[in-house]
Amino acid sequence: MTKILVTGGTGYIGSHTVVELLEEEMEVVIIDNLSNSEREVLNGISSITGKEPHFEEVDLRDRESTFGVFERHPDIAAIIHFAAFKAVGESVEKPLDYYENNLLSLIHLMEAMKKYGVDHMVFSSSCTVYGEPDTLPVTENAPIKKASSPYGNTKQICEEILHDAVATMQGKGVISLRYFNPIGAHESTLIGELPIGVPNNLVPFITQTASGVRECLSVFGDNYNTPDGSAIRDYINVVDLAKAHVVAIRRLMDHGQKSDFEVFNLGTGRGLSVFEIIEAFEKSTGQSLNYKVMGRREGDIEKVYADTSYANSELGWKAEKGIEETLLSAWKWELNIRSKK
Ligand code: UD1
Repeated sequence: MTKILVTGGTGYIGSHTVVELLEEEMEVVIIDNLSNSEREVLNGISSITGKEPHFEEVDLRDRESTFGVFERHPDIAAIIHFAAFKAVGESVEKPLDYYENNLLSLIHLMEAMKKYGVDHMVFSSSCTVYGEPDTLPVTENAPIKKASSPYGNTKQICEEILHDAVATMQGKGVISLRYFNPIGAHESTLIGELPIGVPNNLVPFITQTASGVRECLSVFGDNYNTPDGSAIRDYINVVDLAKAHVVAIRRLMDHGQKSDFEVFNLGTGRGLSVFEIIEAFEKSTGQSLNYKVMGRREGDIEKVYADTSYANSELGWKAEKGIEETLLSAWKWELNIRSKK
């Protein structure tokens, strides 16, 4: 059985990807330091799949402990690297923490690939690397803009590290997946997003407002140059996103002995405004949402959505789930969490 190492495997996107890998009969080793996730996520994964991933509570900043995982699992065939800090605002407050964690973790994993002969890696990147794009939809060839936060900068630097390192490592391949806005939860409602504290992202804030945890959603800006004035993003279902990782792993393993670095956009190709998301949420859940319009959030861009044609044709992957179904899954997950508190 093919053994895949998933770093950050108890996190939001990581846990959904672990489920897809297990369902495709792959064996999974998770590395997570539980800094932004809960051990109970492992129970959700097992309940959905009837299978158990190996779990290693390890901090990737610790080179020796990281190497220890590869000593215990000498048959790891590929790595999917999710584990990273990802809060934009926090990265402005604590830039060194972000650079240390996100860069060092990647470097240790690349060293391990070399030392232990692991040939493939899928890296978790972001559409943040495009900044405010000059043309829409944004293709993989769009220029990389100056990052608007240390978090965004870590994604750019990590891609550069991967690009440079892989060029020197014969036979190794890396795929960087640039996510647009992942939302929603597994249809089983056994796993989903678990934001700690006040959510920064739109959809968790919406579901928490509808469930009464938050009083009111702030819509950050209604004077953008968009049809309804609110900002536009490409919201992609997290299970669709997770499936793309399985496809990327297969592509790497089928690729043969050539070293390369490839990049793919993962989005739906459809841009939706904040007001359209609110409307779709109300329609799909029957909940009415308390919201007010506030000023723009610093660092936000006006509109970004993916040109997915390269991912569709080269990976043979396409996002399938619609926005209402996806928002309903986020709402069911929220109700599930609340029922346990
Ligand atoms: C942000 C980051 C992105 C990162 C992602 C992961 C920026 C520019 N982008 O995406 O790099 O990968 O988070 O967490 O910071 N909104 C509201 N009210 C809210 C929350 C959000 O109106 O309470 C609006 C935002 O202004 C934005 C949209 O909803 O227009 C989506 O916001 P969010 O979910 O935070 O994602 P991004 O900012 O697109």
